[in-house]
Amino acid sequence: MDETHAQKLARLHALETQALQGGGPERIEKQHEGGKLTARERIDVLLDQGSFVELDRFVTHRASDFGMDKQKWLGDGVVTGFGAVDGRKVFVFAQDFTVVGGSLGAAHAQKICKVMDLAMKVGAPIIGLNDSGGARIQEGVAALGGYADIFLRNTLASGVVPQISGIMGPCAGGAVYSPSITDVIVMVEKTSYMFITGPEVTKTVTGEEVTKEQLGGASTHASKSGVCHLTAPDDQAAIAKIRTVLSYLPSNNAQEPPRLPCSEPVDRDVPELDTMVPTASSKPYDIKKIVRAVVDGGELFELHERYAQNIVIGFARIGGRSIGIVANQPMVLAGCLDIGASLKAARFVRFCDCFNVPLVTFVDVPGFLPGTDQEYGAIITHGAKLLYAYAEATVPKLTVITRKAYGGAYEVMASKHIRADYNLAFPTAEIAVMGPDGAVNIMYRREIQAAADPVAAKAAFVDDYREKFASPYKAAELGFIDEVIAPRTLRKRLASALDMLKDKRDENPRRKHGNIPL
Ligand code: HXC
Repeated sequence: MDETHAQKLARLHALETQALQGGGPERIEKQHEGGKLTARERIDVLLDQGSFVELDRFVTHRASDFGMDKQKWLGDGVVTGFGAVDGRKVFVFAQDFTVVGGSLGAAHAQKICKVMDLAMKVGAPIIGLNDSGGARIQEGVAALGGYADIFLRNTLASGVVPQISGIMGPCAGGAVYSPSITDVIVMVEKTSYMFITGPEVTKTVTGEEVTKEQLGGASTHASKSGVCHLTAPDDQAAIAKIRTVLSYLPSNNAQEPPRLPCSEPVDRDVPELDTMVPTASSKPYDIKKIVRAVVDGGELFELHERYAQNIVIGFARIGGRSIGIVANQPMVLAGCLDIGASLKAARFVRFCDCFNVPLVTFVDVPGFLPGTDQEYGAIITHGAKLLYAYAEATVPKLTVITRKAYGGAYEVMASKHIRADYNLAFPTAEIAVMGPDGAVNIMYRREIQAAADPVAAKAAFVDDYREKFASPYKAAELGFIDEVIAPRTLRKRLASALDMLKDKRDENPRRKHGNIPL
C-alpha cells in the first residue's frame, strides 16, 4: 500500500530526530561531563539565533570493512551548513565527537568539502569547529584522501574568504594541518589539544615523557609554539572569540571590512599621550597603553597575546573602521625584533593585507636581537619575512614612531621606503642607524681611548650624536616622516589618514606569486 503524506512526513521527522541524536544520549552526556558542548550546541552558540540551515543531515559512510557496514550514523559525525554571524553569511562545519569520536572518513570529508566549495562560490567565511580522533581508522586511505581534499580547499580559500578554526577537542596527526592553514586558531583550555604525534609515540621515539596538555594543550600553543592565536576557558568563550574575529573582517577579499558606528569623536585629543613615552630612551613603557588610548573604546583585540610578547598584534577600530595593529613592545626584550616576533607580525601583516584591513604600526625598536640563537635559527630569513610582508602589502599603511627606530628594524617596520602611506613621529622619536652608545664606540673609538678623560669624551660624543640623529628631525628633513606631531593629536591624525586612504589603490607586479623567504 502507498504511504500517505502523513506517513511520508512522519518518516522524515523520524530520520531528523535520529540525526539530531548524534551518537546518542549517553555519549552526549559524556561530552557534557567533559566540559564540552556537542557539535549542534556549538553551532547554536556560534550563529545568530534561528539562522542555521543544515546540509547533508542524512549522509552516511559507505565503508564496509571492520564491520562498518553494520554501523551507520546519519550525518556521519559532522554537522555542516550555513547561517549568519551578526547578520552576515558564514559556512560552518562542526565535528561531532559523540559519533565514532568525530573521526573523519570519506563521507564526513565530502560534507566538509561541500560547505567549503559553497563558501568559495558565494564569498563567505568558513568556520571549522574541530573535535575529532582524526582519520577514521576503519576507512584507511579513503580517510587520508578526505583530509587532503580539505587541505587543498583550505589552501585555495586562503586569502579569498576568512577561515577560522576552533579546536574544541582532540586534533592529532596530519589533521592539525587543516586548522594551521586557516587564518586564526582558537583553542579551548584544558579540553583541546593539537599535535602531530601524541605522547605515546613521542615517548617511544624520543624517550620524552610528556602529557597531552604539555605537548599540545592550549597553553603550550599560545605561549611556546605560537600555533594558536587565541585561547578561551570554555567552548562558549572560544566561540564568542570567533564571532569577534569575524567582526573585524570582510566576508571575502573583494569586500571592505564592516564599518561599525562609533560614538566617540574621532578628533578627540588624548592629552595623556604627550607624556606617555619616557624621554629616557631605555626606560620601558607599555605600548598597549598608547594603542588603547587612541583606538575606539580603548579596545585592542590581541592575537598571540602570550607568544613573542616583544611585539603586539591585534585588531582595533578608529572611527568604526577596522585596523590591524602591529606594535613593538618596549616592556619585553626592549621591543627587539627576534624570530618569534618576526613570524608573528609577518603573518598578521599578510592576513590584514588579504582582507583589506589597514595596518597601523607603532614603532619603538632598538633593532634585531643579537646572538647565536637568533643567527643559527635564521633570523635573517625570518626577519626578511616581515620585511617582505610589509613591502608587498597594498592596504593603507600608517606608521607611528614613538621612540626608537634603529637600523634595519627602522626600515622593516613599515617605513616610507617600503610603501607606507603616512608616517608620523612623536617628538621623542630617535631615527638612526643605531643607538648613540654603539654609534660613538664605533665612530670615535680611537679618540675616546686617547682622551685624558675617556668617560667625559665619550659623553660629549654621545651628546653630539643625540643632537644630530637621536631625533625625528633628520628623517623629517628627508621626507621619510610626513609629520612630527604632538602625541595628543594622534587619534585625529590617524582617523583623517584612514579616511584619506579609504579608496587607496595599489598593485604589485603581475606574477604567479612572489617567493617569500619561507
Ligand atoms: C575510528 C575512532 C577514532 C579514529 C576515536 N574513535 N578515534 N574511531 N577512528 N581515528 C572512536 C573510539 O574507538 C571510540 O569508539 C570513540 O571514537 C570515542 O573515543 P574514545 O577513545 O573512547 O575517547 P577518548 O578516551 O576521549 O579518547 C579520544 C582520543 C582517542 C584521544 C582521540 O580516541 C584516540 O587516541 N583516537 C585515535 C587517534 C588517532 O591516532 N587518530 C589517527 C591520527 S592520524 P567507541 O565505539 O569505542 O566508543 C590522522 C592522520 C590524518 O588523523 C592525516 C591527514 C593527512
